[in-house]
Amino acid sequence: MAPMPMPMPMPMRVEDNAVSGKTVCVTGAGGFIGSWLVKLLLSRGYAVHGTLRDIGDKKTAHLSRLDAAADNLKLFKADLLDYDTMAAAIAGCHGVFHVATPVPSQKLTDPELQMLGPAVTGTTNVLKAASAANVQRVVVVSSMVAVEINPKDWPHGKIRDENCWSDQEFCRSIESWYPVAKITAEAAALEYGRETGLDVVSLNPSLVFGPMLQPTVNASNQFLIYFLKGGPDLIRDKLWHLVDVRDVAEALLLVYEAPGAAGRHICAPHFITARELLGLLKSMYPGYPYIAEESICDMDHPAPMTSGKLEKLGWSCRSLRDTITDAVDFCREAGFLEDGAPCRFPPLLNKI
Ligand SMILES: NC(=O)c1ccc[n+]([C@@H]2O[C@H](COP(=O)([O-])OP(=O)(O)OC[C@H]3O[C@@H](n4cnc5c(N)ncnc54)[C@H](OP(=O)(O)O)[C@@H]3O)[C@@H](O)[C@H]2O)c1
Repeated sequence: MAPMPMPMPMPMRVEDNAVSGKTVCVTGAGGFIGSWLVKLLLSRGYAVHGTLRDIGDKKTAHLSRLDAAADNLKLFKADLLDYDTMAAAIAGCHGVFHVATPVPSQKLTDPELQMLGPAVTGTTNVLKAASAANVQRVVVVSSMVAVEINPKDWPHGKIRDENCWSDQEFCRSIESWYPVAKITAEAAALEYGRETGLDVVSLNPSLVFGPMLQPTVNASNQFLIYFLKGGPDLIRDKLWHLVDVRDVAEALLLVYEAPGAAGRHICAPHFITARELLGLLKSMYPGYPYIAEESICDMDHPAPMTSGKLEKLGWSCRSLRDTITDAVDFCREAGFLEDGAPCRFPPLLNKI
């Protein structure tokens, strides 16, 4: 007898997903990491409320084009400093991915206004709105900069894990405002979870490379472009930890879904010095002008970070070579390596 034909599954709409517990909010949905996360969530059947400060076509066209966006993506105009706009986006959600933070490509002129306010008060606004909406879990995107900068009482040669916190006072003393913002926001978020019982977990990605869905170049890809195009800035021969943007999106979903996820999760699988990265890029892509060897200043390397906690939850990632290949090929095809515009190393990455 011929098998009965299987009924075709009906596409789920935002309202259906709300009933099945798969509606989540992504703050900063239009940014580099946010866009890849939205794409992943839609592909896994989630309905997504995405927040952006500007919901004009230029900022949202790449999101509207994603598979399932027509049915399952709803965009909200919201600013981190405006509680009501954030609360409107989070209402009706079972989970929140708090991705938005200013990641400026230029030097800050007013750190409080441009960085600390949105990052720290903004995170509190998101958490309060999540409590009000009774969400099941909030995933806060923190950073390696909250882990690895001058940690107090951490031996130089000891592998850095989730117990390692950057020294906020040191970062403040050298006016490195992005790390100050990330350390303060992550610590406050985890503390808020302990105090209120809201399930809050964090992810600490390293420098993120990869193809871009959004139309403009973000700071971490500018780092890579700067290496290939060359420029006037001195940079330190730091031990850079790197990760692919698509693997960050997978890690965020994993720490959202895994019952065993708790506290911080370092997401920094590859490490390489600036000098070694320059050598690797030159061997893979000869012919670009590149930064000068002499513009890389020597420095001592402490022990690297480990992503073991995340790997124990089941996370795995692409190789460094694949990540670099996909990122550079994307930049080349998009014309970001060929345009004549002068290139600068992102100032926020020069102090860390
Ligand atoms: N890329 C990396 O290497 C890296 C590494 C570790 C951690 N992170 C973290 O990952 C997150 C995303 O970074 P990204 O690399 O994807 O950078 P990005 O492309 O610049 O995205 C930043 C996002 O934050 C939003 N945002 C900034 N200020 C806001 C405000 N006042 N109100 C609402 N939204 C605001 C931006 O929204 P608009 O579109 O409205 O400007 C944008 O969507 C950040 O939390 C960052 O600290 C990034």
